[in-house]
Amino acid sequence: MIKPHGSDELNPLFVYDTTKNEALQVEAEGLQSIMVSSAAAGNAVMLGAGYFNPLTGYMNKADALSVANDMKTTSGLFWPTPVLNLLKDAAGVKAGDRIALKDPNVEGHPVIAIMDVEAVEEFSDDEIALISKKVYNPSPDEAHPGVDAFMEQGKVLLSGPIQVLNFSYFLSEFPDTFRTAVEIRNEIAERGWKKVVAFQTRNPMHLAHEELCHMAMERLGCDGLVIHMLLGKLKKGDIPAPVRDAAIRKMVELYFPENSAMVTGYGFDMLYAGPREAVLHAVFRQNMGATHFIVGRDHAGVGDHYGAFDAQTIFEEVPAGALQIEIFKADHTAYSKKLDKVVMMCEAPDHQKEDFVLLSGTKVREMLGNGIAPPKEFSRPEVAQILMDYYKSLND
Ligand code: ADX
Repeated sequence: MIKPHGSDELNPLFVYDTTKNEALQVEAEGLQSIMVSSAAAGNAVMLGAGYFNPLTGYMNKADALSVANDMKTTSGLFWPTPVLNLLKDAAGVKAGDRIALKDPNVEGHPVIAIMDVEAVEEFSDDEIALISKKVYNPSPDEAHPGVDAFMEQGKVLLSGPIQVLNFSYFLSEFPDTFRTAVEIRNEIAERGWKKVVAFQTRNPMHLAHEELCHMAMERLGCDGLVIHMLLGKLKKGDIPAPVRDAAIRKMVELYFPENSAMVTGYGFDMLYAGPREAVLHAVFRQNMGATHFIVGRDHAGVGDHYGAFDAQTIFEEVPAGALQIEIFKADHTAYSKKLDKVVMMCEAPDHQKEDFVLLSGTKVREMLGNGIAPPKEFSRPEVAQILMDYYKSLND
């Protein structure tokens, strides 16, 4: 099986030993505690689940800047985005303290992790600007939801190793879908899959997404597909995870051969960092045991911040051997009226734009909101029905 990133074995930071986990929860009650940001809680979930292997906790300032500038930590580990615990103020926490991190996303704010603080540092305004530019690279003409969320967290960073005590709200809210990297690796091994392609998504899957997955599986000769959806926070207006989950499950049930696709999800807020996030996606798909990863059009993009294929070209900057997972780079897929099937546009000769069924996200939302199903060349009717029901429920 493909090795995890940066180590021979996966080292999830979740404390699986129940006696030890309970003892740490008791210990946490006596520790100084701080409320972390949603992003930091998401990082804890990803570290706990093994997705961020081989990191052992939150990065310090030198590592964060090195990662932002050069996609590697000061010790030379390839890593595309800073993994931070940022606060507005240090709240009296000092280097050497052992503290409890409270989860902002769960009622009662239970402790999500215990942290041994190695350093308390502060980013300057210039350093915050540099990270924003290098990691998110926002267009100057448009607000960027990822940069806004990053800036909102504060400039003080606590770094050091953590022990993770739970998976926030993801296990209770998505028991059938939330999976750790450990669980996905185990399931891939149990199914005996050797070549496995992963599909990232934060949207319901329309026909172009579905066919993209079929194409990747066929062309790569894969034994299986892991649909791996984001279950954390999204920007306003995006479709909530339970609705996407239901739509994707229906699509897989009806349109994929049995046992060919796993429907799974991970607990992390969307960064909207386009190319850099695509690389992070590849890292954590390798950690969960996928051998291939699909990167299509405007992967992890938002608005007009990135070029349609920037998230593919960034992989040219990944040093040889830094990642073992291979990228399946896909052109824009769309239904061709001439060929009567979904194709990659670059593979459809003698086509004009009008020969494809192309609908903007805004147009699709408008149709679904008005109870109108998009054409079957765009969306499976059963998927469209789930989405129309969701939009209807918003108006009821
Ligand atoms: S993402 O933010 O999670 O990347 P989305 O769920 O829309 O957004 O996309 C999931 C994956 O499908 C990404 O790899 C994206 O590039 C790809 N994708 C989405 N739509 C298309 C399309 N029409 N053609 C090619 N690739 C696409």
